[in-house]
Formats: sequence, structure tokens, C-alpha cells
Amino acid sequence: SYYSFCYNFYRFCFENYSEFFFRCIRQLRYLCWECLIIFCLLLQRKLPVETVYIDIKDSAVGWHAIKDMVVRGAPAIAISAALSLAVELVHRDYANESAEDAFVYLQNRLNYLTSSRPTAVNLVDASTKLQDVAREAVLLSSQAGFVFEAYVEAAENMLVADIATNKAIGENGANHLLSVSQESRGSKGLNILTHCNTGSLATAGYGTALGVIRSLHSLRKLEAVFLTETRPYNQGSRLTAYELVHEKIPATLVADSAAASLQMAGRVDAVIVGADRIAANGDTANKIGTYSLALAAFHHGIPFYVAAPLTSIDISLPSGNRIEIEQRSPVELTHSHGGHGPQIAATGISVWNPAFDVTPAKLITAIITEKGIICKKDGCADFDIQAFISGA
Ligand code: MRU
Repeated sequence: SYYSFCYNFYRFCFENYSEFFFRCIRQLRYLCWECLIIFCLLLQRKLPVETVYIDIKDSAVGWHAIKDMVVRGAPAIAISAALSLAVELVHRDYANESAEDAFVYLQNRLNYLTSSRPTAVNLVDASTKLQDVAREAVLLSSQAGFVFEAYVEAAENMLVADIATNKAIGENGANHLLSVSQESRGSKGLNILTHCNTGSLATAGYGTALGVIRSLHSLRKLEAVFLTETRPYNQGSRLTAYELVHEKIPATLVADSAAASLQMAGRVDAVIVGADRIAANGDTANKIGTYSLALAAFHHGIPFYVAAPLTSIDISLPSGNRIEIEQRSPVELTHSHGGHGPQIAATGISVWNPAFDVTPAKLITAIITEKGIICKKDGCADFDIQAFISGA
């Protein structure tokens, strides 16, 4: 049929040319044109050895893709959840549903999607915004189709907006770093240490902390990047290394346990990491190991930056001690390849495997956002993020 011809044609183009068109690795491949809709996620568990995309047909498949780390990274999971539901809606028969039914349906599916991973606030933020869009649509029409269309449009806009946001974070971060380091570094490029994966694979494209690094590189102001392995899931050695090699950005992989020595050796000008949830005072939940990097940076007088979109801020939490930290399965520690490879720990050992830790605001120099740099007032250990947001 015409439909299946179009589907196969676009699928073929997607599979073979999308990296060429987009000029970078894409975690999310989404195409919606008339009745044609394709949403695929790069199966990150197979990287860097194999490049395999899987079809996301509905929100149940989306939920499992997030939970099982097919896709990870705070902005990427929020957008993946939103689009997985968009795909479901396009195939849904809603002939006998009212606008109110459509809203209740969306609310239930979004609440289900937010239960996939608890720490990153971006998922909750996306769900809240999409429910608001659906609620407004109900006021404008009694048709379920109208509500669903408004939802799909808003979800698609999130995909587009995230790339623009990341580019702004990259630019703001690079300009800030250059302005504060110019005196000490002169024309020499900066050496940056980063953790986990915050790049194209963790977002709709470009990245947050890795976006700042990309920006510095394109300005020819980057000497080198040091990236940690990021045990136990190895987002650094598998994913960040993959992105940096792909883009020929000079980079050196270090074991997590080498990061403090690297800083002591004077080889790092700044540390830049991403965020999963930032409390109102600036305390930041991010990949486990971030706190140790921040402690070492503080001790050695090295600036420590968090680069994140405003959607990573949870203004409802006064500090980081109420952030829920996801505990991952013991097999991710006892076995290699995120629990999918051979056993590497003694049988019977008990395991504590938090996926994230909270870095106190006191250890953070500044927060780089798409709306500018959040700095502390003189003499303050905490940030006043509410004041920044009100003024932004
Ligand atoms: O468990 P992950 O891989 O989802 O953790 C990812 C991180 O901690 C990232 O640093 C964070 O989500 C920011 S991604 C732009």
C-alpha cells in the first residue's frame, strides 16, 4: 500500500542518512508526517560496539526503554517519555471519547511514565507542562482529537526546544569560562574534566556539560577533555568517549579513581557536570561520583560548574536532602556491562548501588543555564535560584 511504501522509504532514509543530515549522533529519531509516525531510540546499552535503533510504539515500550537504560540522561528521558505517548495517540481510536476522557487518559499515561525513574526532575516537569497543555485544550474544545493534537504538538516542540536550549547553555558556559580564565590562561585552551554522559546521547542533541565542551572546541579554546569512566554503568567510557571520538574532540579517558590525582597534578582548569535535579539552594543531584569530583575540585581550588537547563531545577525543594536517589540493581555492580556481562564480584557479596549523589551547593562555583549563569552572592554558600528565575 501507499502507506507502507512511504513508511519503508522514510525508515530507509532514517536508518541510512540521518547522521548525515543531522551531522551528529542522534539518540532520538522522530518523524511525524501526515499519518506517518516513526519514533526510534538508540539502544545505548549496545554502544559503543553496536549501533542499533529500536522502535518505540507506545508509552509502555517507552517506560521500559527508560527503566532499562535504552535511553538515559535527564532531558532525553523526559522527551522520550513525551514522544512515546505521542506515538501511541496517533494510532489510537478515540471516536467515542470526549475531550475530558482524553485528558484523563493523558494524565494517567503521563503519571505512569514518570514512575520509570525517580531522580531526574525533567520527566516530572515535562509531564506537568503536557498536562497543562491538555487541560487548556479541554477548555477550548469538546473533541478528544483536539486534545490529543495539542498534546502531540507540545511534545514535538519539546524535542525542538531542547536542542536550542543546549546550544544556549553551551554558548553561555563557554563565554563565561573564557571570561573568567582569560587572565590566567591567555590564548591557551582550557582543560576540562567531565563526568557521566551529558551530550547528544543524553539530550535531544548537542548536550549540556558536553555542550559547553563542544562550544569551547568550536571556538578553538579547548585544550583537552578528561572524561571519567563513570562506574558502574560506564556512561563516560562507553558514551561520552563515543561522542568525543566521533567529533574528533581531543579527549582522555581516566578511571573514576584517578580523577582526584589528575586535579592535584594541575591538569584541570575546570570541572563541568550535568544535573538530574537541582534544589532551590543549588544542591545538585547528578551521577554517582559527582560529589567526589566536587570535593577534590574544592580542595584544589578548581572551579566546579553544573550545566543544566532550567527544567532540571526543582524549586519546590529547599535543599538537596529530600531528593529521591534511585537505587539500581546489584547486578550492575556484580556483573560487567551494566549487569548484562560476565560476573566480576564474588557471589553472595551485598551491594549498595545508588545511581546518583547530591553535591552540596557550597562546592559548586556556578550553574550554567540557557538563560545565563547563576552565581552566588558574595559570602554565600548557597545559590538564590528563585531570585535568578524571577529575574530571568
Ligand atoms: O543514570 P543516567 O545515565 O541517566 O544519569 C545521567 C546523569 O547523571 C547526567 O549527568 C544528567 O542526567 C544530565 S544529562 C544532560
